[in-house]
Amino acid sequence: MSINRDIKRVTTHVLQAMKTRGEKIAMLTAYDYSMATILDDAGIDVILVGDSASNVMAGHETTLPITLDQMIYHASSVVRAVKRSLVIVDLPFGTYQGNSKLALESATRIMKEAGAHAVKLAGGAEVANSISRILSAGIPVMGHLGLVPQSIYKFGTYAVRAKEEAEAEKLRTDAKLLQELGCFGMVLEKIPATLAKEVTESVQIPTIGIGAGQNCDGQVLVVHDMLGLTKGFTPRFLRRYLNLFEEIENAVHGYIKDVKAKDFPNEQEQY
Ligand code: KIV
Repeated sequence: MSINRDIKRVTTHVLQAMKTRGEKIAMLTAYDYSMATILDDAGIDVILVGDSASNVMAGHETTLPITLDQMIYHASSVVRAVKRSLVIVDLPFGTYQGNSKLALESATRIMKEAGAHAVKLAGGAEVANSISRILSAGIPVMGHLGLVPQSIYKFGTYAVRAKEEAEAEKLRTDAKLLQELGCFGMVLEKIPATLAKEVTESVQIPTIGIGAGQNCDGQVLVVHDMLGLTKGFTPRFLRRYLNLFEEIENAVHGYIKDVKAKDFPNEQEQY
């Protein structure tokens, strides 16, 4: 295992230096204090308070319903847990698109009220004004290209993006634009590995892949998926490190059995 313990606090500058020296960046999502404590203690470089909270925490079908107040609640819980990791927070749907003033207000609330270290938002040229305005306030911004779940109703499916040349070309142009605007990095989601490699080599800022192959500068997964807490979600890109759904269910079965059998609590477990 190679956690870089020399890094006392991960910053956007640290991520840039990691890309420069070819050290891969490990990023996972978290939405609450307990999980963030474990991830930070384990040495994860970046914690993303993703709007995937809308799916895995709140049970919505898409990421669209989650609100800015709810993201701030999740993010502040994560920030309280973290000593070393960089905490990036998603700007939720409807809080930055088409209105750069609103975008700056939303990002400012996340930084002030949650104590986040950076924000992430989805899109390229369409959101350039919002990105510039947020950056002008000194707030670090991470971009997100490829499959952007906030646009699911435009795409119609969660299938791999940018397989056709026209979309691949727009993605290449958007990646360069994100760098020119001043983003410190970008997520590349569910695009062909060859395209992700090309983009990663064409920009100086780090790329973090999810379903984008092994040549990105780092990788991100939704923590509930990699721990096997979610059931029935088995995309090709997902590696499950545990099967917690089953393990927790077994533990709960054991507890129910013990309570019903009057075996819990026993004499040592009472006052
Ligand atoms: O919301 C999220 O969890 C994300 C990752 C999948 C990159 O944006």
